[in-house]
Amino acid sequence: MTEQKIPLAGVIGTPVAHSKSPQLHRHWLNTHGITGYYIPMDVSTDDFETVLRTLPKAGFVGVNVTVPHKETALALADLATDRATLIGAANTLIFRKDGKIHADNTDGYGFIENLKQSGLAWNPASGPAAVLGAGGAARAVVASLLDAGVPEILISNRTRVRAESLQSDFGKRLKIYDWVQAGNMLEDATTVINTTSLGMLGRPPLRVPLDGLRKGAVVTDLVYAPLKTRFLEVAEEMGCHTVDGLGMLLHQAVPGFERWFGTRPEVDSAARAAALR
Ligand code: ATR
Repeated sequence: MTEQKIPLAGVIGTPVAHSKSPQLHRHWLNTHGITGYYIPMDVSTDDFETVLRTLPKAGFVGVNVTVPHKETALALADLATDRATLIGAANTLIFRKDGKIHADNTDGYGFIENLKQSGLAWNPASGPAAVLGAGGAARAVVASLLDAGVPEILISNRTRVRAESLQSDFGKRLKIYDWVQAGNMLEDATTVINTTSLGMLGRPPLRVPLDGLRKGAVVTDLVYAPLKTRFLEVAEEMGCHTVDGLGMLLHQAVPGFERWFGTRPEVDSAARAAALR
């Protein structure tokens, strides 16, 4: 009698202890009665490739990849989705039965789904989007905003050259503002996103002047610890609609879980509670 293998998945990064993904996937596995496991794996840059090539032999069906391995993960993959290639990084890997590693990037998808399911009737075409930051997360956000039909993206980053690199990759629909002028780009924006790590617990606050925020704009923060950042608090006081960043984390996890475990999980209040536990 051949016994069914127990499917394993997990998240590889360093550090990874703070990740909310293990408790989220555990919740989904329990909800759907799936015998499987999702494990946090703290792996150094030196060991990443060796670990990645070993995991399928140990019963892993795929993994999430986080900082600092996302670019290497894409480079090591045998096949990649268009969106992973465009973003230049992978956060979801599928280990195929034929031994090939398939790379995807679901960060932008998670970002857009979070806005779509916020109950705000968010319309990407309603006006320009303002993006604070031009790091790895911003790349996924910019790619997905353009794909969703945003007419123009106003972007500002402390290190201007990173914003310029995004502009050269994504084209003239991006307009760059100096970091000291970031407040000025908010006036026209109907969607505003903080993709920097500023405002996160233990990090410095976001000091961009927010008095230019337009009433009724949809404002979201990729930072989800704390859940309600000062940025979102101020935006709310100014009559903006706010969406916290936890939903992006939940939504980006959906495609991976579905591919690995064969069931599409729900992003609902129970999933939110599980991620916050
Ligand atoms: P991630 O993949 O999460 O985007 P990242 O690539 O390190 O991580 O990017 C972090 C973002 O936060 C960048 O836009 C970074 O600006 P720089 O490109 O100038 O580093 C921004 N950021 C981090 N600390 C900052 C600070 N003290 N002031 C302004 N921006 C900051």
